[in-house]
Amino acid sequence: MGQIRLQGIRKSFGALEVLKGIDLDIAEGEFVVFVGPSGCGKSTLLRQISGLDQPNAGRIHIDGRDVTDVGAADRGLAMVFQSYALYPHMTVRDNLAFGLQNNRMPKAEIASRIAEAARMLEIGHLMQRRPGQLSGGQRQRVAIGRAVVRDPTAFLLDEPLSNLDAELRVSMRAELAALHARLKATMIYVTHDQIEAMTLADRIVVLRDGEIEQVATPMELFNRPANLFVAGFIGAPRMNLIDAAEAASLAPGGLPRGAAWVGVRPQNLRLDDAGAELKVDLVEALGTETVLHGQLASGTRLIVAQAGQVDAARGDTLRVAAEPGKLHFFDDAGRRVEP
Ligand SMILES: Nc1ncnc2c1ncn2[C@@H]1O[C@H](COP(=O)(O)OP(=O)(O)O)[C@@H](O)[C@H]1O
Ligand SMILES: [Mg+2]
Repeated sequence: MGQIRLQGIRKSFGALEVLKGIDLDIAEGEFVVFVGPSGCGKSTLLRQISGLDQPNAGRIHIDGRDVTDVGAADRGLAMVFQSYALYPHMTVRDNLAFGLQNNRMPKAEIASRIAEAARMLEIGHLMQRRPGQLSGGQRQRVAIGRAVVRDPTAFLLDEPLSNLDAELRVSMRAELAALHARLKATMIYVTHDQIEAMTLADRIVVLRDGEIEQVATPMELFNRPANLFVAGFIGAPRMNLIDAAEAASLAPGGLPRGAAWVGVRPQNLRLDDAGAELKVDLVEALGTETVLHGQLASGTRLIVAQAGQVDAARGDTLRVAAEPGKLHFFDDAGRRVEP
C-alpha cells in the first residue's frame, strides 16, 4: 500500500501557472524527495497530493483508486509541516490522541499506538507536557508522532527539519531514515537542502519552475545529470562548466558530437603537471578537503576540490587536469550528451 500516481497535474493561482503538468509514479514504500529552488512549486505539488488543494487539471491515484475529488481526510495520508501545528493548549498525549479520538478509535487501540510511537520517537517522558514546554526538536518529534499514530498509507513531509538548528537537523535526518526503514511506508519529503535529499531519498524529483527536470536515484542524479540545471543544482561545490571550445586544455580526450558545454565536478579535477594553468585566488582549507578557486588563462573560473591538505596559497599558479572518464557533456540546449 502507498503507491501514488500523478498524471498531468496542473495548478495555477490566477495568472500564475505554478505546476505545468506533473507526471510521476511513486512505488509502495518508496522514500521520494522533491527538491528545487524556492518557489518552484514543491509545496504546491505536495498540497495537491494531500488533498488540501485541488489541481486545475490532472488525476491523482492512490493504490489504484482515483482520489482527485476525494477530500484530504479520506485519502489516508498524514502531513508533517515545517511549523509543527500542534495544539498549544493540549498535552503531548492529547495531541497524539486527538485525531484518533475523532475517528472513534477504541481507547485501548489509541493507547497502544501512542505507546509504540512514543517508544519509536523517544518521547514517552514528554507525554504530560504542553508544546510550549518543549524544545523545537521535541516538538517536531511530536508532530512526526502524530503522523505515525495514524498509520497512514503515506507520509507527506514539507521541510520538516528546516526550523531546527544544524546539529539537530543532522540527527533528526538519521532518525527519519531509521523511521522509514522501520515503517516501510511511502514517504514524500520536500526540501531545498540537497544533503537531505541525497541522504534520505530512494529517488529524487528535481523540480524547476513547475516542471520536473529529472527523476532518479541520488547517485544517478550525481553521476548522470540530465541537463545543465540538474548538474548545477546537485553536488557541492557546484560542477564547473566550461565552454567546449575551451575545454581541450583540460580534457585532451576530445568531445562527443553536439557538445557545447563540458562539466567537471571540483572533486574530479586533480593537480597534474601536464594540465592547464590555474591562477589561484582563494584557498579554502577544510582539513579533510582543500577547495581551490581560481582562473584559467582565458579568465574562466574553476573550482578544484582535493581530498586532504594541499600546500597552496592565493597567488600561486597550479596545473590541473580532469580525471579521465569523469567529464559531463551538454548540448547548446543544456541537455546531456553521452560521450
Ligand atoms: N495560495 C497561493 N496563492 C497564490 N500563489 C501561491 C499560492 N501558493 C503558492 N503560490 C505561489 O506558487 C509558487 C510556488 O510556491 P510553493 O509551491 O510554495 O514553492 P516551494 O515550496 O517550491 O518553495 C510561488 O510563486 C508562490 O508564491
Ligand atoms: Mg515550500
